[in-house]
Amino acid sequence: MQSRLLLPVLLLGAGGLAAPAAAQGSLNLYCSVQNEWCQAVATNFQRDTGIRVNMTQRGSGETLAAIRAESQNPRGDVWFGGTGDPHLAAAEENLTQAYESANNAGLHPWALTQWRQSERRAIGVYAGAVGFGINTELLARKNIAPPSCWADLLDARFRGEIQIANPNSSGTAYVVIATLVQLMGEEPAFDYLRRLHPNVNSYTRSGTAPIKAVARGETGVSISFVHDAVTEANAGFPVTYATPCEGTGYEIGSMSIIRGARNLTQARRFYDWALTEPAQRLGFEAGGQLQQPSNAAAPLPPNAPDLSRIRLIEYDFAKYGRAAERRRLIQRWDREVGSAPR
Ligand code: G6P
Repeated sequence: MQSRLLLPVLLLGAGGLAAPAAAQGSLNLYCSVQNEWCQAVATNFQRDTGIRVNMTQRGSGETLAAIRAESQNPRGDVWFGGTGDPHLAAAEENLTQAYESANNAGLHPWALTQWRQSERRAIGVYAGAVGFGINTELLARKNIAPPSCWADLLDARFRGEIQIANPNSSGTAYVVIATLVQLMGEEPAFDYLRRLHPNVNSYTRSGTAPIKAVARGETGVSISFVHDAVTEANAGFPVTYATPCEGTGYEIGSMSIIRGARNLTQARRFYDWALTEPAQRLGFEAGGQLQQPSNAAAPLPPNAPDLSRIRLIEYDFAKYGRAAERRRLIQRWDREVGSAPR
């Protein structure tokens, strides 16, 4: 009799303890920044909210392909980071959904431009400029003068010395192609890419692999986001960067909620959280990343490239973020550059 009375109390007690944690649920996070930052975001969000995070890190192009492939049965809830163009393509293809966070109010205008352009589906979380990553020791040893302009990269002194990512998987590489097309016009840009080809020793899967190869001394020069060069220099490698004298392009690293997200409440909670000042400090403080945060109260990390001092083009996100344009340029690159013999 006593045990029959006790049983429900015990169950209630156990349920009472377990309920808050279980009730928070879980979140499937697709993450396209560097792994250190993805890990920091997952751990801190989980600690702040009790929501269990399953995180998958992949490049921007790869994540777009995964979301597209899963569109009938979405597995991801929110997509954090990665270059803006594939987020815009996802919005246009109806792979993501509109959301308006109360925390929009604290963001830089460029983050909100991205949001409006995507019909409220993608929002800016950071910005970063394209340039050259340089291993100063390696180039000095080989007696190669470092590049300062796009034109320099075509020089024979860089034969087999340059690394850049593959635009199919990497958002970084797509930003480079779109930048060159905007700077030079499409025909001269593809002529440039074909002439660059013999100087490229590898087209890597991830956008950050080339700067890591520069840091390890495996290649003298990378075409990278320049904030990633500072990350390697801060880690003690003989790395510096240059921004091209002709001008350069930039990314608005973005965030989107996936259409059909099973954990929509948690996805929105994450989205709100990721726009706050403390969350935006994590990129640098926990992940060593040096992008310009989109929260206006989050400081530019020390030694981070200051975009207002870089000669930036008026990157046409509306045009180059269009799914068809992105596909067309990447296919053209595959045909005329990626598959060409060296
Ligand atoms: C790095 C950069 C980010 C960029 C991302 C794109 O993490 O720090 O600023 O958005 O690469 O990666 P992907 O592999 O798509 O080029």
